[in-house]
This record gives sequence, C-alpha cells and structure tokens, in this order.
Amino acid sequence: ADTVAINQAGHLEIGGVDSLKLVKEFGTPVIAYDVKRIKTTIKHFKQAFETAGLPYRVTYASKAFSALAMYRLVADAGLGCDVVSGGELYAALKGGMPPERIEFHGNNKLPAELAMAVDAQIGCIVVDNFQEIQFLDQILQEKKTEISVVLRVAPGIEAETHRYISTGQQNSKFGFDVLSGQADRALQELLNNPRMKVRGVHCHIGSQIFAVNGFLMAVDKMVELLQKWQQQFDFTAEILNLGGGFGTKYTEADQPLPPEEFTTKIITEVKQRIKNAQLPLPEIWIEPGRAIAGEAATTLYTVGSRKDVEGVCHFVAVDGGMGDNIRPALYQAKYEAFLASRPQALDEQIVTVVGKYCESGDILVKGAALPITHPGDILAIPSTGAYGYTMASNYNRNPRPAVVFCEDGKAQLIIRRETYADMLNCDLT
Ligand code: LLP
Repeated sequence: ADTVAINQAGHLEIGGVDSLKLVKEFGTPVIAYDVKRIKTTIKHFKQAFETAGLPYRVTYASKAFSALAMYRLVADAGLGCDVVSGGELYAALKGGMPPERIEFHGNNKLPAELAMAVDAQIGCIVVDNFQEIQFLDQILQEKKTEISVVLRVAPGIEAETHRYISTGQQNSKFGFDVLSGQADRALQELLNNPRMKVRGVHCHIGSQIFAVNGFLMAVDKMVELLQKWQQQFDFTAEILNLGGGFGTKYTEADQPLPPEEFTTKIITEVKQRIKNAQLPLPEIWIEPGRAIAGEAATTLYTVGSRKDVEGVCHFVAVDGGMGDNIRPALYQAKYEAFLASRPQALDEQIVTVVGKYCESGDILVKGAALPITHPGDILAIPSTGAYGYTMASNYNRNPRPAVVFCEDGKAQLIIRRETYADMLNCDLT
C-alpha cells in the first residue's frame, strides 16, 4: 500500500474522497473509481500516437467495464469503443457513444446482433469467420445497405499470459487463421462482396501482457500479411488494428511499462516495418480495456467473521467475494489488500481474504499481509476496475455492488447497489 493516496485523517482517499466517507454514504461492497486516473491513462495512450505523428484511434474495450457513465466518459475523451454483444452495443449507444466510433467484435455474433449493428450504422464490424460473413451478407442484402468491415486474423502468436486469455495462437477460437491460408480466402470473399467495405485487419494476441515482444511479433506478422495482400489482391489496408491486452499492475510483483512507453515501442516497430515494406501508412488502432479501467478502481468491503486454526489457516471474511470479483477463482489472479482506515499499518498477520459465497474457491487474496482485523473494518482491494463488475454474478442471490465515480473530492453514484427485488425481476410466479 505504498502508492495509495492517503488523506490527512490517515485514510485511503479515492479521487479526493475519503474512503470511509464513501462507505458511510454508499455501503459495501462498493467499487470506487478515480476518474482522473482514467482520464490520465487515456491521455497517455493518445500522446504516444500524437508524439509519433501517426494517424490512430484508441478504442476502449468496453468488456472491461461497461457502465453507461464509462461509455460517456470515454466518448467525451474522444475515444471509440469495442463491443462484443448486442448488450454492450445497446449500452454503448445509450451511454452516448457515437455509433460511427463503435466496432463490433466476437466469434459468434448472432444474426440479431449483426442486424442491430447494421441498423445502428456502427463504424465497423470486425469479421471473425466465414459463417459471420454469410449472416452479415444476408442482412445487408435484406436491408439494401452496406457496412465497413475489418478482418480479424489469428496471426499464430503465443502470448505469454494465462491460457484462458491468450487469443493469437493458431488454435484460438477467434479470427481467420493466417498460417493455413484461411485469412487469404476470407479477404478474397470480402473483396468480392459489394456490400462489405474491407477497411483493414485486426489481431489481438491476448490480455494482461507485460512483454512488448509479443506485440512486436504481431506487428511483423501483420505487416508481412499486408505486404502479401497488397501484391496478391491489390488490397491496401486503411486500418491496422493491433488489439488490446496491455498488462496492468495488480500487486507489487507486477511492473508493467507505462502505457505511453509500451505504445511508443509498438508504434516505432509499426513505422519501421511499414516503411520497409513500402506500404502506405494505415491508421493504427489499439483496443485497451484493462489498462484504462483496471487500476483506476478500488473495491471496499466490510470485514465480518474470521477463522483461525493456529498453525494451519487464518481466514478473514468480507461481505463480497467471487460474485463481484471472479478473477482469483477463475485465473488464480493475485490482488493485494489493506485497511482503508490505516493503509500503512504494520503487517501483523498473513491471512487468506475470503468472501461470503458458498464455495471454498471464493478467495479474494491469498497470503494477504494485514494488521489484526476486527469486524467492521473496511478492507480495500485495489486494481479492481476491469473485469470485476462486468463479470459479476448473483451467485447465492447476492446483489451486485454499487459503483461510484470519484473526482475532485466528489463522489457520484454511477451504478446503484442491486436490491433483492432487482434480482427477482425476471422470475415469474
Ligand atoms: N480487443 C479484443 C479483441 C479482446 O478480445 C480484448 C479482451 C481486448 C481488446 C481488451 O483486452 P485488455 O486490454 O482489457 O486486456 N476476463 C479476463 C480478460 C478477458 C479479455 C478478453 N478480451 C480477465 O479478467 O483477465
């Protein structure tokens, strides 16, 4: 807890708001975002491109955190967004994201979802497979219209990350395979289709990636592909989309490069490769989700019971858990915890922070170094802004937490806490 903001009262502060005050006002569990932090990260991503003088687009991967207020915030910051379902598309539009800045991803977009995207006239559909081309073509024929598409390929790269979030390898379920020539056939098909305007290519090698090397390899493969396609099909890409996946810091052990530096390394490679290949410079797109939302939020919980079996185990239980953060259970993801009232208190015990769900795997932090806790203490877990709320569930009929945006000492409730009645909204009697 050495990098957290601490106010004069000695309490954790988020966006200038005392965390204990937040808890009084909104209860726990509550996910609190530092809005400045989101804005600063966005600025850094943009600056990398602007410094390099490159045409670009930063597209927020909204699966990381898809609240209406978040779409509004990123839209106001000039970003586009990527959506991966009709639900996200619906939310993005409601949140005020201009349709022309929306791109649609997914390996099994439903015909109804494609139709919705066509009706909304979104910026582009990232075409993933042959079936999708067929579905989309039918829809465009029926509606007598056309749409921009970007072709997603699996470049055949193994990213160094958890296998569940690695997506660029040949056996990935996403995108057209490059190595077997599938991508060539897809391009040919798209070029023959008068209703789809092929604007470029896309790849995404995985998520939570720290080594820039994987991205550089992706750049090389993609430029190689573009060069081949230029010769073979006389196809010039207007867009080269390199996906998201920029690693972020969850614990002290994580040392990601700052977004601007990471992006700059990628950009330098792109410039060099494109120049060597003697291709016109395409617009470079990136799709960070976690890097924009992740480190910006801290989840606050209330400590309840504990269980100590001397020499065997020490559990501290909080009023949330796998329902608001499934990542430790699903990916063995690591987090840190500290007390909001005394962020820098001495570590007096090593405990396992668990939730209230009826699962032994309902663990938030293993080996948390904490001062002795008491019921009612407020426990803070930082870096919970991405893939927390969006992967939340109502398991055990626990309501989803409240979410607040904090900035300049003010807190704004952006998602209210679910009620028991909310959870029965779809139940019929
Ligand atoms: N673009 C595409 C095509 C993607 O599939 C993803 C993430 C992103 C961008 C954004 O990746 P990011 O910058 O956020 O790493 N639930 C997992 C992460 C799954 C990511 C899926 N795709 C987790 O909690 O780690």
